Amino acid sequence: MAIRKVGVLGCGLMGSGIAQTCAQSGIDTVVLEVSQPLLDKGLAAIDKFLKAGVERGKLAASDREGTLARLKGTTQHADLSGCDLIIEAVIENLDRKREIFAKLDAVCGPATIFASNTSSLSITELAAATKRPQRFIGLHFFNPVPLMKLVEVVRTIMTDDAVFQEALAFAAQIHKTAIRTSDRTGFIVNRLLVPYLLDSVRALEEGVGSIQDIDEAMKLGCGYPMGPLTLLDFVGLDTTYFIANVFFEEFREPRFAPPPLLKRMVMAGYHGRKSGRGFYIYSGDRPVPDNALSGLREGGSR
Ligand code: CAA
Repeated sequence: MAIRKVGVLGCGLMGSGIAQTCAQSGIDTVVLEVSQPLLDKGLAAIDKFLKAGVERGKLAASDREGTLARLKGTTQHADLSGCDLIIEAVIENLDRKREIFAKLDAVCGPATIFASNTSSLSITELAAATKRPQRFIGLHFFNPVPLMKLVEVVRTIMTDDAVFQEALAFAAQIHKTAIRTSDRTGFIVNRLLVPYLLDSVRALEEGVGSIQDIDEAMKLGCGYPMGPLTLLDFVGLDTTYFIANVFFEEFREPRFAPPPLLKRMVMAGYHGRKSGRGFYIYSGDRPVPDNALSGLREGGSR
């Protein structure tokens, strides 16, 4: 059965993108934030993206209006009753996620499917904390959600087969390509992506190349849309540091250990694009590599 109403928990970077994508696919969508200012910020980001889409000729003005009409923001859990599917995209904190699912368990009917967009926490552990572990799945989206075509659909050993099939059908309903995966830390994409990103920081630490050269190497040598250090700034250094620690905890393999430079950048508040500074400095018209990080000066000499 097609999903008619979706609830999205969190209207940050991922939550806003998920809510926009659902509403843009014709589904009534309610997005929940903890406070009105955070909700307003998330909804403004959605509107900005939709406006840019119209300006670029990617979206009809009527589609923008229709999307906004199907999208409702709220700070009240009760407004998510009646949803067929709830997708959680709040901060990567197990206790916070458990707490919010407990509230939703009380508000939503037994048929509602619960999903988490977590990129590193265990879907099984989250599912087990709810009253509906059989109706709990992982739906892992990629940033920027409205543009990235993939969703990882994650099943646990408790997931009902019918629920898994419904989740796959939902991915098609929102025009994403689904891949199926099991509940192992990082699923498929991050299991492969995170060691690569961490290695790019190690390459910088070891003086293999400058920020710009490492990024150019992977863009032009492999055809990746962004170099790894640009992508790290885009994903968020704090987010990647958190994910790396969860991976290392799970697998105990050096390739998942966060490099010292990454840790220090996070401690310094260099969280990437969102904080105005990461491997690049974002205060001007275009990002400028921060060569002081590698001991390299402008021009590439040590
Ligand atoms: N509305 C509609 N369409 C839009 C748009 C908007 N507001 N903004 C951009 N687009 C369209 C553009 O028109 C363009 O379409 P065409 O290809 O048909 O021309 C396309 O989107 C790309 O836009 P741009 O040309 O402006 O930008 P770009 O080519 O530099 O691509 C990008 C931007 C899609 C982000 C690209 O750089 C990219 O794919 N980067 C890698 C992102 C990535 O790896 N994400 C995953 C991160 S990991 C993660 O998220 C998971 C985790 O757990 C950490």
